[in-house]
Amino acid sequence: MALRYAQKWQVVLYGLLAIIKSLQAVFVAYIMQQYINFAQKPQGSLLHLLIFAVVGLFGFGIMNILYQALKAKITQDVNLKIKTIATNYMVRARDEKAKIDVSFMTNDLKQLETNRIGAELEIIFNVLQFLAAIISAVIGSWLLSLIFLIASLTPALVQKLLGPKIEAKSAVWESDNRLYTNTVNDTVNGSAMADLYDVEPSMISRLIHSAQKMETALWRTNFLKGTANETTIAVAYIFGIFIPFSFGIYLVTRGQIMLGTFMMVVQLANNFINPIVAVFSYVNDMKTAAPIWKRFKKISRFEAPETTPHDADHFKQLIVKDAGVKLGGRQIFKHVDLTIYPGKKLLLVAPSGWGKSTLLNVLTGNKTLNEGSYQIDGQDLNGKWNQAHGYFSFIQQKPFILNDTLKYNITLGRSVSEDRLKQVINAAGLTPLVSEKGLDYMLSANGANLSGGQNQRVEIARALLTNRPILIADEATSSLDNELSKRIHQTILKDFKGTVIEVAHKVSDEEKGWFDQVVKLG
Ligand SMILES: Nc1ncnc2c1ncn2[C@@H]1O[C@H](COP(=O)(O)OP(=O)(O)OP(=O)(O)O)[C@@H](O)[C@H]1O
Ligand SMILES: [Mg+2]
Repeated sequence: MALRYAQKWQVVLYGLLAIIKSLQAVFVAYIMQQYINFAQKPQGSLLHLLIFAVVGLFGFGIMNILYQALKAKITQDVNLKIKTIATNYMVRARDEKAKIDVSFMTNDLKQLETNRIGAELEIIFNVLQFLAAIISAVIGSWLLSLIFLIASLTPALVQKLLGPKIEAKSAVWESDNRLYTNTVNDTVNGSAMADLYDVEPSMISRLIHSAQKMETALWRTNFLKGTANETTIAVAYIFGIFIPFSFGIYLVTRGQIMLGTFMMVVQLANNFINPIVAVFSYVNDMKTAAPIWKRFKKISRFEAPETTPHDADHFKQLIVKDAGVKLGGRQIFKHVDLTIYPGKKLLLVAPSGWGKSTLLNVLTGNKTLNEGSYQIDGQDLNGKWNQAHGYFSFIQQKPFILNDTLKYNITLGRSVSEDRLKQVINAAGLTPLVSEKGLDYMLSANGANLSGGQNQRVEIARALLTNRPILIADEATSSLDNELSKRIHQTILKDFKGTVIEVAHKVSDEEKGWFDQVVKLG
């Protein structure tokens, strides 16, 4: 149930309001009965009856508005809860294969809103409406009600036949939809490249093809759902209305029930037939969203690891021994030895594609050695992200920029003193940019409104702000000019007191001299 993410009192109150809303139909049927009885045998005042009906309906109207307000509120709350759970998983889960994508967070979760949360709420209401109607009808004439009830259950057969097929078609649609969203992302990002190589037609047809696939799958799902719903309606009319009608009229002609009672049961029968049809239709909706819901349930079982990672404040010795990494079935490197002591500045040099970034990821515990060992202060940290990453700040080869302010991009939401912020901004060579644009300058996603070097400097400021004993720099200065490269090296090699491990292929001899050790790999 998606509703378990709502507050209990809200669901209970929703149930109460739903009961009141269901009684509206009973009220209308009762008024009908009174009118027909009056027509057959005038008794009392017609005006009083009318006033009673109008006042009653007005009361129901107010309660129904409350019902709608609460329904919308529950939907909002559950939606937010589900998004919170999915976000928590997306940000914290380290198993990359299980990572969720943009399409899941947007399209798929939207599906859950209508086809899960909404459907569950509607089912509750319809079941209550069914019960209210059937109980009142039984009080009028149990025999006729029984006939109506048995007859109206026949649509269940249609449901049983088509339900599983709808679920299967939806699964196809969900996967095609994911592919489509990813292709849209590609196309948005790749349109400039398409422009450059004049391959727009191929880019367009690639997206249209995936849209076509997705739309076809959606069409199949909707068509099958539509067919199931229409068949259910037809069956419901025949078995739920015409057959019991014939029987009821027969009872009236035999004088066994009054016309008013017959009309009341007929009126109420609508309210136990329609809810049954509606419940089946909502169950179909739920089947449409079943693959998404299953995926979400798996996500909701995720628990963040017990050990809360914390910043390490020092280390004595980092040792990588006879290390090798295998990726995608290929041995990337082997027999690598490194020993690093606090405060030392180390430069690793290797040709492009040798595996430098991979090795750095081994140090943070993000990648695992398939041979050899990796220890800090005697503790085995091979593949242990939780225990390892707190030792490092990491200037990535490809700077990562969020669609947020310059300040947020540096602090990542951590509270820092203005002095400290100023200090790292200056150290990273960002002072001119900050003076010109201000700290609240909005950066575009992927850093599209800054130069490559400026993005790199934001990445550097972020790393310097995090007080960890070892600073890793993956080609940190390769996109900067000589002057700036020198300044950054001045900062991380001379001003910064911690340990530095840098990989680079282009470092001037002068700057090389600032390192304690230059290791040639490969
Ligand atoms: N997830 C992966 N699966 C399979 N192979 C991978 C994966 N990631 C990287 N590789 C391969 O591993 C090799 C090393 O990649 P890596 O990025 O570590 O090299 P690098 O030395 O940092 O190169 P550069 O100087 O260009 O940054 C490359 O041949 C790359 O194709
Ligand atoms: Mg690299």
